[in-house]
This record gives sequence, structure tokens and C-alpha cells, in this order.
Amino acid sequence: MKKTLALGLLALACVAPAQASAVQLNIGHRGASGTRPEHTFAAYDRALALGADYIEQDLQVTSDGVLVVLHDGTLNRTVRGPAENCTGAVDTKTLAQIKTCSAGEWFGAEWAGEKVPTLEEVFQRYGKTVNYYIETKTPDPEDDMETKLLALLDKYDLRNASINDWQVLIQSFSADSLKRVHAMDARLPLVFLGTLNAASIQSVREYGVGIGPSFGGVTQANVAAAHAACLNVHPYTVNTDADIARMLSYGVDGMFTNFPERLEAQLGAAAAPGLTGPKTAAADLRRCRGEQKDVPAPVGGTVGATLSLTLGTPGTFGAFTPGVEKVYTASTKATVVSTAGDASLTVADPGKLTNGTFTLASPLGVAITPNAWTGPVSNAESVIAFTQPIAANEPLRTGTYAKTLTFTLSTTNP
Ligand code: G3P
Ligand code: CA
Repeated sequence: MKKTLALGLLALACVAPAQASAVQLNIGHRGASGTRPEHTFAAYDRALALGADYIEQDLQVTSDGVLVVLHDGTLNRTVRGPAENCTGAVDTKTLAQIKTCSAGEWFGAEWAGEKVPTLEEVFQRYGKTVNYYIETKTPDPEDDMETKLLALLDKYDLRNASINDWQVLIQSFSADSLKRVHAMDARLPLVFLGTLNAASIQSVREYGVGIGPSFGGVTQANVAAAHAACLNVHPYTVNTDADIARMLSYGVDGMFTNFPERLEAQLGAAAAPGLTGPKTAAADLRRCRGEQKDVPAPVGGTVGATLSLTLGTPGTFGAFTPGVEKVYTASTKATVVSTAGDASLTVADPGKLTNGTFTLASPLGVAITPNAWTGPVSNAESVIAFTQPIAANEPLRTGTYAKTLTFTLSTTNP
């Protein structure tokens, strides 16, 4: 029977369109709990600094109905303080009682100031700048942990970011808890914690996006089978370099680790930057499930080569007065459109103004400002200034003096 099942999984892995995510997510298990007291801000800050894509929260409910972040159902292992407040079951203490306790002293004196955080305080501290991997821990339906969790997601505007980008993943060993969340909002991404096998794959694909197995039971084949069913695999809790390497070689989509720095080092350049890893994983899963199609739709345009020169109204000096020395001035403008890498505006030798066979003594002066451009321009204007000196004793013949000039707009870099 066992053999038949194993062969079935392998066959599925070979023929189905298995789709692993393009990223392997670094999940800071209880924060950087290898080097900081678990589930404290110190542990979360450290995990993020070490490259974790997610910080994990285990949820418990206080006697007055507040979601706090603590792994154990009792305070005894990781909390210190007055015995009446800081020992015993979490759900027999009020939040005020628990806040009198230290959540870091057990780990080291330097962490004595750390408190048990509420989930709300975690959201207040990090907002939408991080990704959260939240576990409903041993949930009692009477506590309504799931409703409280979704209310906080809404209060901190995390529901849509969770649905679309997996900014919040909800995990549980309790399929019933996950199914309660699924019944409230079927779009939320859920991860079942438990054995990775054909039965769990078949069950979880109905409501979840992945399975979080203990890493000891993970094989290349069962990862492939999960991928064939479009489910992610996030093993816990993978701490040694050798185990991390083995899980990566199986193609898991991420893993819980107390040492995010070790996983980050092995991922190297493949490590997801910032918030983008979960977003990528979410999109990859939608593609696998046929819920997202990426259709290339190129959009663009072209620019034809253009060198355009428009001159303004012809310049005129007006009337020259014989017997009076003067430099007459006139101007017009040039408008340039150029798509070239450079352009310059020049004028051919202007020569002298003529009146029939009569010619003025001094040449016409022409100055163009500006007369060069180092990149494309649209409707750039230049001033063209004309000067015409007339001497006091210069003979002037009655009539109209004129000259047609040739301006050239050119480029060396079309
Ligand atoms: O949630 C993944 C992993 O943390 C499950 O084990 O006992 O550490 O919550 P535990
Ligand atoms: Ca956990």
C-alpha cells in the first residue's frame, strides 16, 4: 500500500505542470530566536536585519480576550516576574498581568526589558513594512481567535495585502482553525502545519496555499507532489547549514529558521529583496492555478528623424540716412526642432547688401544666438541679429537694398 502511494506521487510529479515559486522565503521563526529571546521586538528586529522575509507570530489569547504573541500555552518557559502574574496558563491571566512580566530575562539579562507583545503592538510597530507569518496556536473555538485576528488585519489595513501579496500568511496545525478563517474569507492565504503526503496535499489544496511540514519528513518527491498540486512547501524549523542546504536542494518554497542569516547566506543573490518575495510567491501560485495569466502587451512609439528650421519675418533695417555714420540693426528669429544627438545652425557668407548693380561698402553682419545644441530640442528659439554699418561719407544710391541669406541646420549625430 505504501509502495503504491509513493509511486503515485512520483508519477504525479512527473506529469503534472509542477510550478515551484521563483523565490525561497526566509521565515524568521519566532523572530531571530537563535540569538534573541523568541517573540520579542528584539527578536523581530534582528530577524529583519538578518534578511528574513517574514517574522513569525504564535498567537495565544489572554483571559480578557487579547491576542498576545507567545509560543507556549503557559508562561513558565519564557516569561519571568511575579509568580501570580507570570506563571501558569496564558488564558488565565489578563493582559495587564502579563505586561508585568519580562519576556527576555530567561534568555539573558540584557533582554530583561522585553515584554510579551500583543499582536496589535506588533502591527503598530512594523505596520505594512514587513511580512507576517501568523499561527493560530491551539485555538479554542470559544476564544474566537480567528475573528480577532481578521479584525486586526482590517484595523491595520493588512487584509488586501495578505490576499494579493501574502503580506500576512496564516498558519496552523489546526485544519479546523484554518477552515474557520477560510469560511470568513476564502481569499486569505492559509498554510497547514503537518505531514506532507498525498492526503494532506489533497485536503489542503481545497482551502490553503501551502503546507508547513516538520523538515525531517520532507523529500524531493513530496515537495514535487505539493508543487504539482500548486501548493507551497515551508518546512520548519531548519537551523543547521546542512539541513538548510538539503531543503533548498529539494526545491522548497521557503523555510522557518531560528537563524535567518544562515539561510540568507546560502540564498546569496537569489535572496528576495525587501517585501517582494511573498508578492512573487503569491503571483507564482496564481499562475500555477490558472488564476493569473500574464499576457505581454507591448506599448511604445517611434520618433522619425527630424531636423526642422523655421525662420521668422525677414529682418529690415528701415531707411539708411546718407551722410550719417551709423550701425543699423535688425533681427529675426529661428525656431529649431531636432531629434538628433546634436545640432548646429549656421549661415553662409552673407556678403554685402545690393541695390541693383550698386553694393554697400561694408558687409552685412549676422550673429545667431544660440547656434548649437547638444541634444534633441523642440521649438528651441534662436535670435538672428543683423548689423549694417554705414559710413558718413558713404555714397548711397536710391532704392531698396536686399540680400537672400542661406541658413543651415545640421547634425553630426543623427
Ligand atoms: O509554525 C511553524 C513552526 O513554528 C511550528 O512549530 O511549535 O515552533 O510553532 P512551533
Ligand atoms: Ca509557530
